[in-house]
Amino acid sequence: MPKAYVFTRYGGPDTEAFVEVERPVPGPGQLLVAVRAAGVNPVDWKLRTGYRRPGDTGERVFPAVLGSEVSGVVEAVGEGVDGFAAGDEVFGNTLTGGYAEYTLLPVRLAAHKPAGLAFSDAATLPVAAATAYDGVHQLDLPKGATLLVTGAGGGVGAAALQIARALGLRVVGVASEGKKDFVESLGAVHVPSGPGWSDRARAAAPDGIDAVYDLVGGEVLTEAATLLTDRTRLITAGAPEQDVERLGGTRVTRARTSAVLDAVARLVVNGDLDPHVVQRFPLAEAGEALRTVEDGHARGKVVIEVAG
Ligand SMILES: NC(=O)c1ccc[n+]([C@@H]2O[C@H](COP(=O)([O-])OP(=O)(O)OC[C@H]3O[C@@H](n4cnc5c(N)ncnc54)[C@H](OP(=O)(O)O)[C@@H]3O)[C@@H](O)[C@H]2O)c1
Repeated sequence: MPKAYVFTRYGGPDTEAFVEVERPVPGPGQLLVAVRAAGVNPVDWKLRTGYRRPGDTGERVFPAVLGSEVSGVVEAVGEGVDGFAAGDEVFGNTLTGGYAEYTLLPVRLAAHKPAGLAFSDAATLPVAAATAYDGVHQLDLPKGATLLVTGAGGGVGAAALQIARALGLRVVGVASEGKKDFVESLGAVHVPSGPGWSDRARAAAPDGIDAVYDLVGGEVLTEAATLLTDRTRLITAGAPEQDVERLGGTRVTRARTSAVLDAVARLVVNGDLDPHVVQRFPLAEAGEALRTVEDGHARGKVVIEVAG
């Protein structure tokens, strides 16, 4: 039977295990996909601790396969699926977990992988790059405006800087000193994170900061709000809704559509977006892959590669 990396109950890393699972059967509107690569994201370990996405009220069935996004090859399609067939190369958000040899994608959250896009890059787009894309477009800033991104060296942050640059925005990235070169290579002005960072941000952008895309939350989000005269231009993907609304800002609204997946894939193929996959692990080392993200200081993206 195929293998998958799961959590067996809510808790810490000790709840994780490899198990053999039945190959899933695609229902109506679903694709059965042989996974080639799985993106690793903070939400993977957060779900393991019991966190629920807003609106997710269903009962969790254990063991639950870790992972939210994959790329791979369609093995079979469910009833009523148009536009996808066995053999197609695809990527998207999974229904049944991504750290596995097989998974199910709903067609509304799946897209064809362009030939020029590597499986490992494609696997990182549905969560981090799509969240970056949704947030930058939600802000709808005019060309030449200045956007500040906190958590700028992580998966969403690095993508947000590049997507904003491609739209003609000026970008300021707040990240630890060790990520200075990385943030600058993405076309941003680097501001070191840590105590006093907002004063350094003011100094780095003397003409003012027009909007903030926060990916850290907590005190960083609160301090970020002080940079703005118009707090409606404060958005976050890294903090709960009530935290940002209290400050006058909003959570990023996720589009979660195939159209956004197509758009971010085009950005990669056109050379405007590099997902910066910096660490690759085989499925047998899925736990190590998740630890590098759970540590909270990832640079770019971490990917699990599944033998094709
Ligand atoms: N709502 C959604 O749909 C959605 C989707 C994707 C992600 N998210 C959330 O967005 C957040 C970012 O995701 P990600 O994938 O970009 O995570 P990531 O790749 O782990 O990056 C997080 C970045 O935050 C920085 N950081 C951590 N603690 C910090 C602190 N105390 N002060 C300043 N910077 C700090 C780290 O940079 P340094 O090493 O430089 O400190 C790291 O590069 C997570 O909370 C994630 O769950 C939400």
